[in-house]
Order: sequence, then C-alpha cells, then structure tokens
Amino acid sequence: MSNFPNAFLWGGAIASTQAEGAWNEGGKGIDTQDLRVFDVTWDAQERRRNRDINMTSERFANALATNESEHYPFRWGIDFYHTYKEDLALMEELGLKVFRTSISWARIFPNGDDAEPNEEGLRYYEDLFGECHRRGMKVFATILHYATPVNLVTTYGGWKSREMIDFYLRYCKVLFERLGDLVDFWLPFNEINCSRFNPWNGCCLIKDQEENYDQAIFQCTHHQFVANALAVKLCHQMIPGSMVGGMIARFTSYPATCDPDDVMASILDENYKNYFYTDVMARGYYPSYAKRMFANLGVEVKMEPGDVEILRENTVDFLSFSYYMSMISTDNKDYEVTSGNLLSGKKNPYLQTSDWGWQIDPKGLRISLNQMYDRYQLPLFIAENGIGANDVVGEDGVVHDPYRIDYLREHIAQMGKAIEDGVDLLGYTMWGIIDIVSCGTIEMNKRYGVIYVDRDEAGHGTNKRLKKDSFAWYQRCIASNGADL
Ligand code: BG6
Repeated sequence: MSNFPNAFLWGGAIASTQAEGAWNEGGKGIDTQDLRVFDVTWDAQERRRNRDINMTSERFANALATNESEHYPFRWGIDFYHTYKEDLALMEELGLKVFRTSISWARIFPNGDDAEPNEEGLRYYEDLFGECHRRGMKVFATILHYATPVNLVTTYGGWKSREMIDFYLRYCKVLFERLGDLVDFWLPFNEINCSRFNPWNGCCLIKDQEENYDQAIFQCTHHQFVANALAVKLCHQMIPGSMVGGMIARFTSYPATCDPDDVMASILDENYKNYFYTDVMARGYYPSYAKRMFANLGVEVKMEPGDVEILRENTVDFLSFSYYMSMISTDNKDYEVTSGNLLSGKKNPYLQTSDWGWQIDPKGLRISLNQMYDRYQLPLFIAENGIGANDVVGEDGVVHDPYRIDYLREHIAQMGKAIEDGVDLLGYTMWGIIDIVSCGTIEMNKRYGVIYVDRDEAGHGTNKRLKKDSFAWYQRCIASNGADL
C-alpha cells in the first residue's frame, strides 16, 4: 500500500550548467561555472582539493584567456542544450510528474547588465518547459544555480555589490513575464547556504582577493536574502497564485555522543549551517543566534533602511532542500574525517559511505523532514537526493546499479514514513536523473543518473543514453505511487 498522496510529485532534477554544454552558443555569455578547471590526471585527493580551492585569481585569469573546453567540463556538459527533446522523452517514459532544472542567467542576459534580454535564450526555455508540459511533467525552475554572468564579477564584484539585486530582479522579471505560464514551482536560489561552503559557486568570491572572507560571504548572503525576498514579491505580483520556494543544502547533524558538549555542538551546527538560512527565508528575520555567530566570525552585515521590512513581508511559500548525507557534531578531534557534499565532516560509526565517502543515512531524511516541518509548518519539497557512483557498463551492455536502487529504496521508504508522521511533502526530484558533470569535483565519472551518458572525463564518447537497472526500478516506484519499492 502506498503512503504517498495521489498528487505526490515524483521527479528528477538537473542544473543547466552541469547538463547543457553549448557554453558559447545561442547568444549565451560566459558564466562563473564555465571558468572552473578540471584535469583528468588528478587523483581523488587532488579532485577534492580542487573542490575546496574554489577559485583563485590565477585560475580565473587562465580560464578567461582560453576558449578550449577539454579542461572546462561545464562548457560541454552532456549537450542537453541540443538533446533535451530525446532526454525528456526518456523522462516521460520513466513516468516523471515533475522536472527540475535551472535557467542559465547568461543565456538570458549574456553580460548580466544588458538592457535587453537575449531572445534566443528565452525561446530555448520556452521550448524546453513547453516540452515538459507536452510530456505530462510540471516544471520546477531554479532561477540561479550558481552560474552567474562573468561580467557581473569583473565589473561589479559579484554578490558583494548591492547592485546585483537589481540585475537579478531584472532577470527575474523577464522570466516571470515570458515563462510564468510554463513554470509550476519557482526557486530563486539553489542552496542559498552554499555562499558559506563554496563562496565561488554561491556568491562569486575569489578568496585571495578578500581581506575579510567571512565578512564578504555574509554581506553577499544578505544581498541574496534581499534578492530572494524581492523575487518572492515580484513573482506573487506578476503571477498570482505562484509558488516560490527557498532551498538549502541540508547538513543534518547528530551529536556524536550524549555528552552535553556534543549536543550543544550539534545545535550550533544545525543553526549555523542550516536554520540560519531557512529562518530568514521562511520566518522573515535574522534569528537571535545570528548575533553570536557574527561576533565569533568578526562579521558585521551592512543593511539598508527597508531591508528588515522586505525580509519580513516576503517569505517563501514552501521550503526545499538537497539531502545526500548526515554528519556528526563534536569538538573531539579523535574522530576520523570523511567527505560530504560541499564540506567534510566527522565519521559516524553507524553509517556506510558512498564511493566518494559521503555518509549514507536514509533515516536522516525522515529526521530532517520532521525537523523542518515542525519548525516552519510549510510544505516541503526534496529538491535533490541521490548517490554519486562510479557506474560501469557491463559486458552485456547494461549498467547494473543495485547500490543506487538500494539507496533510492531506503530514502523513499523513509520519506513515506515522514508523510505518515504528518509532514506535508509536495514532491521529490531525484538528483542527477540523467548522468551529468558533478558540481563539487567536476567529474563526469561521478554518476547519479538512472540514465547513463556515454561520455568520459575529457568529454569524449558517443553521448548516447542508456537505461540503467535503476531506470526500471524508479519507473515501477512511480507507477505504484511509491508502493512497489
Ligand atoms: C548539490 C548541488 O549541492 O549537490 C548540485 O546543488 C550537485 O549541483 C549535487 O551536483 C551533488 O554534488 P556533486 O558534487 O556530487 O555533483
């Protein structure tokens, strides 16, 4: 028997940068993700180091000076820009009810500050979203999934500048005008807490150019909070009845032991890494604990008159989050460290890890859903969840991925339990429904999809799509509304 409501939105998610490729086609300008470098010869450690370095002035200059794409995988992605029709046919075959992707800002405003939008970019998303609807899928559109027109960084300094709010709203206005009828759920910012954990991706900061990195990070975050609230306002004004959400990367955290110090460490981790962001977007004000957090970091956020009202009057309609793993909290240095999404953490002895060291914790998803719903009483949407693995095509020409089926089965079962607990869960967009370039480590071989893409880490391959074993599994799960796991 299914414990999912009939209207539950089973879905799949990708992001424009990681999938579209065609980085200099259709009038698109160069964006911040086009500048992230990767080398196939790097070992696992160097790949992780590359993730943690984010961006340097030297890398930035080198990337701007070259048109080659081999070392810049976001420039080629999986060529979704050209293949979206065939790919969406596969999504329809899967039975998806909703498709999540992001709009590329630089396809709409190539320089970010252009007076007029690029018509070809708008037509692309009209076609893409129209095709989703023709194939029976709703559209969950992320307005900004990291990729920002580079001119906004070189000319204005990225999100440090308050002017970014105006450029961002100019972009939103065009999207609401032209795509308003085609989008069912709007998400102004992917993982707004990423500004802290990957400041290049999140807010376009180059560390070696910052005197006070934390100060810059939280000033950028404030501008994004204001931009988020004004996007909610504009969307509600222009598209009555629209649903606009907030999103974080959820770092679910447990005390390492019942030692009260560990319990307090866990409360602070939850507040500083997660709730600070959702509190502002959903409650509409900076939480009281922010004062101590800013004092510890030596940060003073500069606000303009009216900001408090903007945040208070324009809170989100729903909350969403990505969930890949959980972490433990303690100041005890004896714990082994393991990797995770956006940051590393201490290892939980009760959990297994993925090929990339991320701690697999399905029950943590039920815990997170309960915590978030209890705190905000707003509908929730799981915007991302999945497992990155080193999939191989077997001699029989098929990708057998029982580990992915196990991962999905267990997480979906826990989602069902959370619904029984009383959580209002709108939907689930499995991350990387089709293999794409990974965001953190820029590896093509870190695959999440139920659809395999024949492309290697240098971008070579036939680019053909293959259904993995998990394709049929997810198809059955959706057809049975989560009863057949
Ligand atoms: C999320 C991002 O943080 O994690 C995605 O929103 C990303 O863009 C996903 O792909 C998984 O991370 P990674 O590094 O394995 O691609």
